[in-house]
Amino acid sequence: MIRWSDRIATGVPKIDVQHKVLIRNFNLLEERINSRTLTYDNLKELLLFLLKYAEWHFGREEECAAEHRCYIAELNRRQHEWYISRFTELYEEFKAVEDWTEERLYEWAATVHKELSEWLLKHVVRTDRHIGVCLGKLKREEVPPPEEKLS
Ligand SMILES: [Fe+2]
Repeated sequence: MIRWSDRIATGVPKIDVQHKVLIRNFNLLEERINSRTLTYDNLKELLLFLLKYAEWHFGREEECAAEHRCYIAELNRRQHEWYISRFTELYEEFKAVEDWTEERLYEWAATVHKELSEWLLKHVVRTDRHIGVCLGKLKREEVPPPEEKLS
C-alpha cells in the first residue's frame, strides 16, 4: 500500500492530483489481491485504466517539464517511454493467456503490481519531484539526485 506523504509530493498541484489517481488504483489492485476479490475481468479493466491513465498523465507531465525547460525533461520522457513499453508488454502477456487458473491469476497480479507500483514510486521520488524543483515548489537539496536508469 502506497501512502501519500510529502516525500512523494512534487508540490505541483495538477501533477500530484494525477499521481494520487495512479496510486489509488495501484492500492485498489493490492486490496483486491489481499481480499481475494480479484477476477479476470476486474483485473483487465484496472490494468487497462492504469495503462491509459499513465499514458495520458505522462503526456501532461512532459508538456509541463518542457514548458519550464526542466533539466530532467528528457530523462523523464525516456523513463516514461520505458514504462509504457514494459506495461504494454505485461498487458499483452496477460491477454495472451487463455487458461488462467485462479492461483496463477493472483500470483501474476501480485508480481505485476509489485513491479509496476515500485517503479512508479521510485520514478516519482527520483525524477518527477525535480519538476517541483524547476517550478520553484521544492528545493533542490530536498530531492534525491535523479537516477539515469530507466527500469
Ligand atoms: Fe514522470
